[in-house]
Amino acid sequence: MKLLCSFKSRDKRLIKVFINGYGNIGRRLATALSSDKEIQFIGIAKYTADDKTKEALENGFDIYVPNGTVKQFKDKGYDVRGIIPEAIQKSDLVVDAAREGGGFDNKKNLYEPMNKAAIFQGGEDRHGERSVADMIHNSRVNYAKAAGKTYVIQGSCNVSGMGRIMQPLIEKFGDKIRRYDVILIRRWADLEDSKEIKDSIEWDKNPHHQDDVKDFIPTSNLYVDAYKVPSRMMHLHQMVIRFNGKAPSKDKIIETFRTEFGVAIVNSAKGTAAIRKKAMELGFQHGDTNMVHIHQEVLKVQDDIIKIAYSDDQTGMVIPENHMLIQSMIFRRPRQEAVKRSDALFQMTKKRMILEEEFG
Ligand SMILES: NC(=O)c1ccc[n+]([C@@H]2O[C@H](COP(=O)([O-])OP(=O)(O)OC[C@H]3O[C@@H](n4cnc5c(N)ncnc54)[C@H](OP(=O)(O)O)[C@@H]3O)[C@@H](O)[C@H]2O)c1
Repeated sequence: MKLLCSFKSRDKRLIKVFINGYGNIGRRLATALSSDKEIQFIGIAKYTADDKTKEALENGFDIYVPNGTVKQFKDKGYDVRGIIPEAIQKSDLVVDAAREGGGFDNKKNLYEPMNKAAIFQGGEDRHGERSVADMIHNSRVNYAKAAGKTYVIQGSCNVSGMGRIMQPLIEKFGDKIRRYDVILIRRWADLEDSKEIKDSIEWDKNPHHQDDVKDFIPTSNLYVDAYKVPSRMMHLHQMVIRFNGKAPSKDKIIETFRTEFGVAIVNSAKGTAAIRKKAMELGFQHGDTNMVHIHQEVLKVQDDIIKIAYSDDQTGMVIPENHMLIQSMIFRRPRQEAVKRSDALFQMTKKRMILEEEFG
């Protein structure tokens, strides 16, 4: 807390940010945060001296490595700025982008002893012995609650997407909604992952998404089932919303999302790959749209239920969410102002218009 209080009193200066991890999420965060004029970008952590180290150097990022590994990196020709604890010491905020579950040890071994604020990613635990924070952030729902916090988890891509769809419906239809059932169809691996894709459909006995969403929408009567399929192209959520009595018309549902930040309404995409490939073809940064895409042509109203299918850009969703979270935690900015800044950085309104036109 001491750190954030002292930061608040001098909040005109640049905030110093370090990214601990340079995987699928870390490298995207690095691209975005290093181009924000309010951030003094300290650099990124690399743990393995592989090709991604070269990529980070080519992108101009300072690289910090674990104690005792500097020689290993230098022997491979990679210029290293220092060791990870030095970078954390220099920073005001660490954005942890470790592989699922690694954030807890980083918190105990590094952030807490050095009294540094940190953002954790959605693979970390909210409850139990390895809990890293007492809240999960969703910029559409509980943005303001993160103001001044020292540790916060940014919800995962799916959890972020569900919040983005559910909250506008709650605001418009309130207790007319009885329950939500979501079938979550997850990609096997990200495009950049080297791991093999297994020809199988696997289920999850206990998906974390249901409890994670209830962390920021505690009153939601939500049930989630998750299946992993052999694809690398985004996730698809089939959300079934049951109303008390007759469900609203399709037009009313579409209208609810017409101006929602980070929601595109498309009508002719053949599947998740069509959206991802279009984003790459159009040169969107890292091939990300950073949003969810409601597939209007399969949105159905049947008696008391609405069925909404939307694809969720698994790698891109959480990057503007982390950016929004920084603006709440550190700058304590009103949400509308934060949205404007994130939109300027990620060009999401423009991307949305392009996608809606391409898939109109
Ligand atoms: N991938 C997605 O679509 C996605 C979406 C939303 C949220 N998330 C969440 O984001 C987090 C990161 O996922 P990811 O997909 O980016 O994983 P990833 O691609 O497997 O990358 C993990 C990174 O962690 C680094 N690492 C190793 N030990 C570390 C340590 N002690 N501390 C910090 N970093 C360490 C690795 O570095 P080296 O490469 O140098 O070994 C690697 O770059 C997870 O919590 C995940 O659940 C992922």
